[in-house]
Amino acid sequence: MDRIKARQLFDEYVAAYDAGIIEIKLKIDHTYRVAAIAERIAESIGADKDAAWMMGMFHDIGRFEQYTVYGTFRDAKSVDHAEYGADILFGKDERFKGVFEEWDAIAETAIRLHNKLDLPNTLDDKTMTYCNILRDADKIDIFRVITEPPYDERSRLIMTMDTPASEEVIGCVMEHRCVPRPLIHNKFEALIGQCCMGFELVYPESIVITEEQGYLGKLLDLDIRDKLLRSQLEELKKEIYSVWNIRKENRDDKKK
Ligand SMILES: [Fe+2]
Repeated sequence: MDRIKARQLFDEYVAAYDAGIIEIKLKIDHTYRVAAIAERIAESIGADKDAAWMMGMFHDIGRFEQYTVYGTFRDAKSVDHAEYGADILFGKDERFKGVFEEWDAIAETAIRLHNKLDLPNTLDDKTMTYCNILRDADKIDIFRVITEPPYDERSRLIMTMDTPASEEVIGCVMEHRCVPRPLIHNKFEALIGQCCMGFELVYPESIVITEEQGYLGKLLDLDIRDKLLRSQLEELKKEIYSVWNIRKENRDDKKK
């Protein structure tokens, strides 16, 4: 399906939901941005940019029904929105039939897995690539979503907090991995957990885009009053930038 038709289909689908609700509007905007970012990452590695764009365009289709039925975006309190969306795209809703054409199987896997903590190691290389493109693009835009209104309110609150992150959470930072949900007990730990997604960006271009946009940088530079919390965030910043530098150097080496 060409992009104009795909965009029409997306717009028609979301027209049934109330874009006056801020959460719905946020997901519509997020979708368009993820599609554009996925395209740029695909281009940087010589992958199919139309296919990547299309996967970005429909990756969160389950969010609209999730919010409408359950009143929340929290999967743990409702449904797995990735599976929910894939069920709509690849079965329940006839309108989406054939959208991805020959990319159907890869798109279904990428969309079903876009929100999972890890990818299974049984995926073939091509599927793995598109899973990673979509996951990187999604993470990059999440940094933006949690920096901008209405989530900026949370950042202001964190600046006045004085409960440091637990040893377990800081352990994840030092091991350069995402923080499992059960370890998160307050807004500061939630912020750390989200920033840790920076460790998982797979493609050097994803790092470049994240740096260009500056949202994660803003979060890592949050002006927290409490000394200990401040130093924990500084530690995280240092670790992320060291991982990124290595990944970018590797790309530069390959270019030579
Ligand atoms: Fe999602």
